[in-house]
Amino acid sequence: GGVTTIDPGFKNTGSCESAITFLNGEEGILRYRGYSIEQLADKADFLEVAYLLIFGELPTKQQLEKFHADIKEQSHVDEDVKKILDGFPKSAHPMGVLSSLTSALVAFNPTSVNVDSEEEMYNAIVKIMGKFPVLTAWAHRKRAGLPLDYGNNNLGYVENFHKMMFHRPNREYSVDKKVVDAIDKLLILHADHEQNCSTSTVRIVGSSHAGLFVSISAGIAALWGPLHGGANQAVIEMLEEIKEDGGDTHKFMEKAKDKEDPFRLMGFGHRVYKNFDPRAKIIKVAADDVLSSLGIDDPVLDIAKGLEKEALEDSYFVDRKLYPNVDFYSGIIYRALGIPVEMFTPMFALGRLPGWIAQWREMRLQKEPIGRPRQVYTGETFREFIPVEKR
Ligand code: CMC
Repeated sequence: GGVTTIDPGFKNTGSCESAITFLNGEEGILRYRGYSIEQLADKADFLEVAYLLIFGELPTKQQLEKFHADIKEQSHVDEDVKKILDGFPKSAHPMGVLSSLTSALVAFNPTSVNVDSEEEMYNAIVKIMGKFPVLTAWAHRKRAGLPLDYGNNNLGYVENFHKMMFHRPNREYSVDKKVVDAIDKLLILHADHEQNCSTSTVRIVGSSHAGLFVSISAGIAALWGPLHGGANQAVIEMLEEIKEDGGDTHKFMEKAKDKEDPFRLMGFGHRVYKNFDPRAKIIKVAADDVLSSLGIDDPVLDIAKGLEKEALEDSYFVDRKLYPNVDFYSGIIYRALGIPVEMFTPMFALGRLPGWIAQWREMRLQKEPIGRPRQVYTGETFREFIPVEKR
């Protein structure tokens, strides 16, 4: 074999060619299939963006309607999946529940695994697009002690998700359009981000030709961690802690800079963005809009803005090019919309679903080889076995 160079964290290693998402970290640019995140967040809806990411073009009206109809056709989850859900304690973190149930879906949809043709791929894609919002909403209702909701296919994709999350028994379902629009925008902003930790996971699991659902289940597990999607929960918990502690942002800034202290300023820093995360800019404005339109005054938003201001002027953060990332303000909006803290990362997963699908599909269509990195061995060379009684 040749010489293996190691690159921990793959900081400088490209794993694939991809035509899905363009990211320029120095300039703070993010585009899906060539369209800017700013325009998409402002003008598109989530299902359109999902179609764009997965199939490469913005859908015509007919294409979008067909895609939605095919998804609706698959928006039921086998009743027996409820028994699995029932087996979890109420206190279970919904990311674990979601990952497990997504994996369990294979047992109920065995034909989704072998996807050698584009048609078989398409069928697996609309199935997971249909069933995943149901599982996400169910994970929430289980925790909240609410009966499961089956949704209403006359509603839009995101609106239906909102109903499945929040519709209370024996009440009319009604929703504020502003609320659904805010969720839609957040989902778009999370929809893809090229070869991040969870997406690389999806591609590598899928590269063994394990099916789409288990590849996504593995992606959910990767997203769960606080250095990745779990940061949105960690941010709100940190902001609450600062508030409880009296609101002294400076003290926490010092803690984050102290290398002896494992504390990091959650929601700050990014592997690729060495400039403003363009998603954070949009979300910051949206946080102000959503809170003011719902008439909510959340003191935690002021703490977040205070931290940001301080960080942008602090040489530690300036030198390391640490800016607020997508997760810094998102939790404040989720909370204003009535989404509980532990559901923040599942919301990220729901948004990232089309990105994971698009990346998995691209990997399969490009017939990429199985992912299998090398290593530099640093262990013992040869040792003679010693029986246990002689050790
Ligand atoms: N607070 C304090 N110091 C930080 C932070 C932070 N949030 N982030 C990075 N640093 C320091 C780090 O200690 C290092 O300093 P030094 O060079 O003196 O050793 C330097 O900045 C570079 O950091 P790194 O850990 O080498 O960078 P990375 O690319 O390996 O990690 C990161 C990127 C996002 C994991 C990291 O910035 C972090 O842990 N941030 C907090 C968690 C977070 O908000 N994650 C969400 C990421 S965005 C969306 C997503 O992926 O879900």
